[in-house]
Amino acid sequence: MNEWSMFDKITKGKGVWLIDAKGNKMIDAVASMWCNVWGHSNPQLIKAITKQSKKLQHSSLFNLTHEPAERLADNLVRISPHMYKVFYSDNGSSAMEISIKIALQYWKNIRNERKTEIATLENGYHGDTFGAMSVGYVPGFFGKFKKQLFSTIQFPVPNQYRTPKGFTFSDYQNYCLEKIEARFSKNDNIAAFVMESGAQVAGGVIIYPKGFQRKIYQLCKKYDVLFVLDEIATGFGRLGSMIQYEEQNCIPDIVAYGKMLTGGYLTMAATLTNKKIYDSFLGEFNDWRHLFHGHTYTGNPIAAAVANENLTMYKKKNLIKKIQTTSKVFEEFYDEINEIDIVGNIRHKGMLMGIELVQNQIKKIPINPEKSINKIFFEEGKKQGIYLRTLGNIVMLVPPLAIKENELRSLLERTIKTIKSAKRKVL
Ligand SMILES: Cc1ncc(COP(=O)(O)O)c(C=O)c1O
Repeated sequence: MNEWSMFDKITKGKGVWLIDAKGNKMIDAVASMWCNVWGHSNPQLIKAITKQSKKLQHSSLFNLTHEPAERLADNLVRISPHMYKVFYSDNGSSAMEISIKIALQYWKNIRNERKTEIATLENGYHGDTFGAMSVGYVPGFFGKFKKQLFSTIQFPVPNQYRTPKGFTFSDYQNYCLEKIEARFSKNDNIAAFVMESGAQVAGGVIIYPKGFQRKIYQLCKKYDVLFVLDEIATGFGRLGSMIQYEEQNCIPDIVAYGKMLTGGYLTMAATLTNKKIYDSFLGEFNDWRHLFHGHTYTGNPIAAAVANENLTMYKKKNLIKKIQTTSKVFEEFYDEINEIDIVGNIRHKGMLMGIELVQNQIKKIPINPEKSINKIFFEEGKKQGIYLRTLGNIVMLVPPLAIKENELRSLLERTIKTIKSAKRKVL
């Protein structure tokens, strides 16, 4: 990428602030890729890391176990209704690869050879590895690898702002669901439906309309398709609930967590399954039902220890309730953001906001895709003291979850100034 001659070197983090080598401060408006919970340099999380690092730094979970991983598994199962067992990995993409492998192997384990297809929503995103790219196929990101990806069955997703002509939004939701049902009822070869829980984030902050996810879950139940949820970006409070599938009133067979699991300090993810799935993997050695999957750092004790401390803090500090209050600050700014003439649509839930930018509000044409929008916004944001990223024509606000109300107000004020100053450069 020639356009970035060099990157700013971040040397410190404190609370919501990132500080570079020259001493410049920026509010971390992307929570360090959507994972930071308590801000940077949190003493409790640092203490948990230090304490564990003096005892056991890494020991494999192959044939062995250790206390932090066991405790974390108990904690995760306790907060995840209907889930039974945990499989660790060290990033969200791997957690999704594991989810896909478990779903496909489940049917083999129970001697059903027909169910081999994966269904998904268009525009979903599940990570950058090949399985995850296949299931979460965002054309703009992955078009160059299309030939190497495995095929999936994709269904449209309702986006109120871009409801196709001739539909009301409600009709279009029904249309999307009818398409799923028509396919499910036609043949019984679908192993699993994989989707982000609550909203598509990387796909452009598409927040599902009420009841949409539950209806997909109901169709999965009706047609015996496994329901696999990706809560890597949307769980743990990002959309305002600890467990997003609870809010959506549905029960997955498999769910993946990542990002905020360790408070955003160390790399860890988890795939949870219900008892039905877990039991299908049990048997004698030569039944060959076990899952052949494991990474070197699976269940790393330091990451598990900081994840345990993070979960304790969620509870002690009543973080979810706090998010529900703090996130109202976004609403105070809706009008002011909407008044900017390149803003086409605001989509907001919990601690996530996407601001869609357009050239023409009536025609809803996205701002010039030929321009490096991300770089323009990064540079204009930096002038305002914020670390901002865009996804295509969407400005993403994904702050650390425990951001204070006054800090969030300041972030929104700076974002508005950034959009206004970037405007002439992106048109
Ligand atoms: C919904 C979702 N799933 C999976 C991933 C992949 O996680 P990771 O970047 O840790 O591999 C992401 C990352 O942004 C994501 O947003």
